[in-house]
Amino acid sequence: MITFVWAEDQKGQIGLNGHLPWQLPGDMKHFKELTIGHPIVMGRKTFTSLPRLLPQRLHIVLTKDEQLIAQYAANKQVVMVNSLTELNNWLTAHQQEQISVIGGNSVFSALKDRVDCLERTVIDATFAGDTVMTAIDYQQFNLVKRVSHVPNQQDKYPYAFLTYLRKEVQK
Ligand SMILES: NC(=O)c1ccc[n+]([C@@H]2O[C@H](COP(=O)([O-])OP(=O)(O)OC[C@H]3O[C@@H](n4cnc5c(N)ncnc54)[C@H](OP(=O)(O)O)[C@@H]3O)[C@@H](O)[C@H]2O)c1
Repeated sequence: MITFVWAEDQKGQIGLNGHLPWQLPGDMKHFKELTIGHPIVMGRKTFTSLPRLLPQRLHIVLTKDEQLIAQYAANKQVVMVNSLTELNNWLTAHQQEQISVIGGNSVFSALKDRVDCLERTVIDATFAGDTVMTAIDYQQFNLVKRVSHVPNQQDKYPYAFLTYLRKEVQK
């Protein structure tokens, strides 16, 4: 099963200057709970925005950057794929696994017809941003869970975790 995991603001913004536009520890914790123990698929810009390799997760990184590919060639926690064909082949070979696609927009856009489950955080605020989430046809999904959060000392903005399943994969 392929799951998208992301957070967006009221305008669908997901990034600014290669990073998240907000700090929301509650969403970071949610991200960790959803992804730990599973492969995580991402574009090179998202990969290089990570502070470090994320523990207990295999990183699948889409890039054509030969230097970066060589740099991680011997690292067992990272698999570099240099085309969408190669990425799709990897996904097909691992389709029995729970795979999290964590962005950015270029990877969400490339895999949006293939995704089974959406784990979407919607932040009830608007931020400056330069990267917008790809358009998702929510008609193809059922909203199966919604958990709302009010602001607290750590998380300054209200937000909600929404889970959707693609209609054809629902049992
Ligand atoms: N809010 C969220 O939940 C969330 C989640 C993820 C990311 N983000 C944010 O989104 C922004 C990054 O997103 P983005 O869409 O700009 O970048 P991205 O998808 O993370 O990475 C783009 C890179 O992926 C590689 N790539 C894409 N398509 C490819 C293809 N067909 N073949 C080979 N390589 C390909 C290229 O790497 P090379 O240039 O190396 O070839 C490209 O420059 C950042 O601000 C990040 O913080 C937010």
